[in-house]
Amino acid sequence: MPTILITGANRGLGLEFARQYAAAGWRVLATVRDPLSGKAVSDAGAEVYVADVADVSTLKRLKASLAGISLDVVLNNAGIYGDNQSFGAVDSDGFLKVMRVNALAPLQVAEAFADQVPAGGIIAAVSSKMGSVAENTSGGFYAYRASKAALNMVIKSLSLDLAARQVAVVALSPGWVQTDMGGPNAPLTPPQAVAGMKAVLDKVNLTDSGKFFHFDGSEVAW
Ligand SMILES: NC(=O)c1ccc[n+]([C@@H]2O[C@H](COP(=O)([O-])OP(=O)(O)OC[C@H]3O[C@@H](n4cnc5c(N)ncnc54)[C@H](OP(=O)(O)O)[C@@H]3O)[C@@H](O)[C@H]2O)c1
Repeated sequence: MPTILITGANRGLGLEFARQYAAAGWRVLATVRDPLSGKAVSDAGAEVYVADVADVSTLKRLKASLAGISLDVVLNNAGIYGDNQSFGAVDSDGFLKVMRVNALAPLQVAEAFADQVPAGGIIAAVSSKMGSVAENTSGGFYAYRASKAALNMVIKSLSLDLAARQVAVVALSPGWVQTDMGGPNAPLTPPQAVAGMKAVLDKVNLTDSGKFFHFDGSEVAW
């Protein structure tokens, strides 16, 4: 049975990833920050672990809990949007917090678990087209855009550093999705966006490593 580790799986896209991978017969290791928020993902069939990806001590505990388990896919999904990001009103601490959760934490998760990903396995991160420099035509959203652009660079470097181990590393763009982050006006539902991203991951191989894929399978310009 293949195994996936998913961060931030108590709600939104992470919960839907857990549901779809469990339904496909995978062993799903799901992380939540608040143990009381884990019921839905547990009901979906996942094994629930507590981790705040911005807190290295909880990642160390998670590493100890998952010792010896081969992880076919490590999916960095946890993310935050941030507040006060308009030009002239950017909050420094808020900016750094978004960078920490969205860009640094996926690198630390990869550093912690890469040795448990077998050749042919995947490390992926849910990024955003808002992190694409090429697709930025409207400005603003400084912290979120910068964090996802930094995440994209982390993904690219990981793809090169882990190539010798034959681990593929990719960034994913879910589209605009109805979650707490995406809001109710988004055109996509979590099942639609996650089905698309899962189909991308089902096909990813080493020749795709270092690429950025939209949920519909098209490639996103960095
Ligand atoms: N929705 C969209 O339209 C959209 C578009 C592009 C990209 N994305 C990306 O997709 C990913 C999932 O977003 P979503 O829409 O599902 O958002 P969401 O509904 O707000 O869920 C975010 C998830 O991340 C978790 N999380 C936040 N900070 C964390 C931390 N420090 N440690 C561990 N978990 C943490 C949250 O846990 P708590 O419940 O404990 O807060 C929650 O499970 C994010 O990376 C986001 O940037 C979303």
